[in-house]
This record gives sequence, C-alpha cells and structure tokens, in this order.
Amino acid sequence: MKILGIETSCDETAAAIVEDGGRIISNVVASQIDIHARYGGVVPEVASRQHLLAIIPVINQAMTGFSWQDINGIAVTFGPGLAGSLLVGVNTAKAIALAKKLPLIGVNHLEAHIYANWLDSSPHGEMGRVKFPCLCLVVSGGHSDLILMKGHGQFEKLGRTRDDAAGEAFDKAARILGLGYPGGPAIEQASRSGAPCLPLPRAWLKGSHDFSFSGLKTALWHLVHKGGVSVADAAASFQLAVVDVLVVKTIEAAKQLKVEQILLSGGVAANKMLTQHFLANSPVPVLIPPPHLCTDNAAMVAACGYYHLQAGKISGCDLDVVPSLSLG
Ligand code: KG4
Ligand code: ZN
Repeated sequence: MKILGIETSCDETAAAIVEDGGRIISNVVASQIDIHARYGGVVPEVASRQHLLAIIPVINQAMTGFSWQDINGIAVTFGPGLAGSLLVGVNTAKAIALAKKLPLIGVNHLEAHIYANWLDSSPHGEMGRVKFPCLCLVVSGGHSDLILMKGHGQFEKLGRTRDDAAGEAFDKAARILGLGYPGGPAIEQASRSGAPCLPLPRAWLKGSHDFSFSGLKTALWHLVHKGGVSVADAAASFQLAVVDVLVVKTIEAAKQLKVEQILLSGGVAANKMLTQHFLANSPVPVLIPPPHLCTDNAAMVAACGYYHLQAGKISGCDLDVVPSLSLG
C-alpha cells in the first residue's frame, strides 16, 4: 500500500511516497532556509508564499514514475505549525484526494516525527522493530515533548517544555553567539572547535517530566556579554547543558515507566552529541532516525498516515488546519 505524504507546517515544502508504512519510494524536501536565514528566523508570510510556489513541483517530483492509480491515500500535516503554511498543504491534499477519489488522512506533525522511527532507511543508532510501550522524545523547533506510546495511536504526554523548546533554545543561543540560522547545526559545528568548559545551569525540575531552557539561554547571554569567552567554548558548553538535561530526564522516565525502547525524533535529534549520549547511557535500546529524517520531511507523514488508514482513521473534506494541535 502506497501513501503520498505532504508536509508544509513550517519552512520545508515536502512530499514523499512510502510503501506499507516504512519503505521510502521517494522523498523530496524543498527547504526555504536560505530565504529565511537573512531574517534570522522563519517569516510566516514569506513561508506560505514559498509553499505555494513549491508545492506542485515538489509533489510532481515525488510522483516521478508513478501514477495516481498507484497511490492508496493522501496523508497531510494539519497541525501544529504556521496557519498559512499548513493551509497550502491541507488544501492541496484535499484537492488531490477529491479529484483522484483517494482517502484523505490528516496527520499530527508531532506524531509524524515519531513515525520517522518506522522508516527503513539506513540505520543510525539502534534501528529495528519498534516495541511498545516506548518513550518518545520529540525535540523540534516548537516542541520538547516526552510522550509515552503504548501502541499505534495511543499517546500519553508526560512532559513538555515550560518555556523555550529545545530547538528554539539552540536557535536563540546561536543568535546570542552571532552564529547563523538555523541554530542547531550552527552550534553543533561551532562546538567542534571548542570545549564544554564554561559553567552553565541545568534546570532539572525534579519530580516533573517537564523541561525548561530559558534560564540556560539567559545565563549564556550574561556569560557572553561579560566578555572574554570564546564562541566555540560557549557553543560547546551550551550544547552539553541541553544534551545533559534531555538525556538524564528521558532515561530517568524510561526507567520509571519500564518502557521497552526510547524513540528520538524532531530536528534536535539530528544532533550527534545528543544521540551519542543517549546510546552511551540508556539501559534500553534507543531508536534514532538518520538526521535527514529527524528534520521536517514528508516520508514521516506518509508512514504515520499508513497506520491511520490501517485503523480506518480517515478525514473528511472539512479537514481544517489546527496551528496549536498537541499530542497526547
Ligand atoms: O523538526 P524540525 O525540522 O522542525 C520543527 O518541527 O520545528 O526542527 C527544527 C529545529 C530547529 O530549531 C533547529 O535548530 C533544530 O531543530 N536542529 C538541531 C540540529 N538540526 C536541527 N538542533 C541541534 N542540533 C542539530 N544538529
Ligand atoms: Zn517538525
């Protein structure tokens, strides 16, 4: 069974065909990073206009060699994300589903990130079959969610960010350090020539599975404005502080809940230090998608859509965008 996935929630226009919820047939991502970088972040109006320009060429490219008769369903992200951006994907998906008489499957972007772990691309970390119950850490530009997954479609949110999301913290720290956008890859790159030798705080929020990164960001700002610190050392120290908190708190929850596995996902899961620390410290197997499937893509949307379709969860023509949609 082949699903066409469509993703336009933020600044990537993406389309992909995935077979049986795991095998990637095509995976096209048109990034707008170069356009937004000069503003230091995503400009929503510019993003939706770029999605409009890119969506049809991107879908056509993903469909190369296939006809609509080969496709069994159209899965599309309907939230969370930027309203104007989500609208482009949802309306395109609706039009295709209606014209080609295919089931329309609205997908939660956070759930889709988790389903990147079902994609059978080249293993990175300990890939393999997902075993329930598993603990999902979704760390992206807008979310740091710790979610217990008991089965397909069964999610229970244990923790979330109380202020900045992990990716947002990377982006803001990069701005403080005068590094580029997006901040995650820029901080990771700068860290390579530095040492994590500077004292930065970690918000443990004992007794809660929530996260908080805004105090760390403020501490970094004070450190940099005092002067005399190298950008590389500051980047490395910041990165280690974020990694420490994410790894320790997630592993603690995994032990408490006696889960079978930990599943990482979201753009921040592309961070090498984060994945190394998880693999070195977790008592249970850790599944980590390869970096290009951690950041926004449509293969994860198609994989997620497959399991919705299997469960008979289909959307109507009245599917609308939900910019503040949450999971669990
Ligand atoms: O999942 P994603 O592509 O989009 C959202 O759903 O938000 O995540 C984007 C976020 C950005 O904040 C970016 O700085 C961060 O993921 N990110 C990283 C890395 N690559 C992307 N953070 C740390 N290390 C990375 N290598
Ligand atoms: Zn995302």
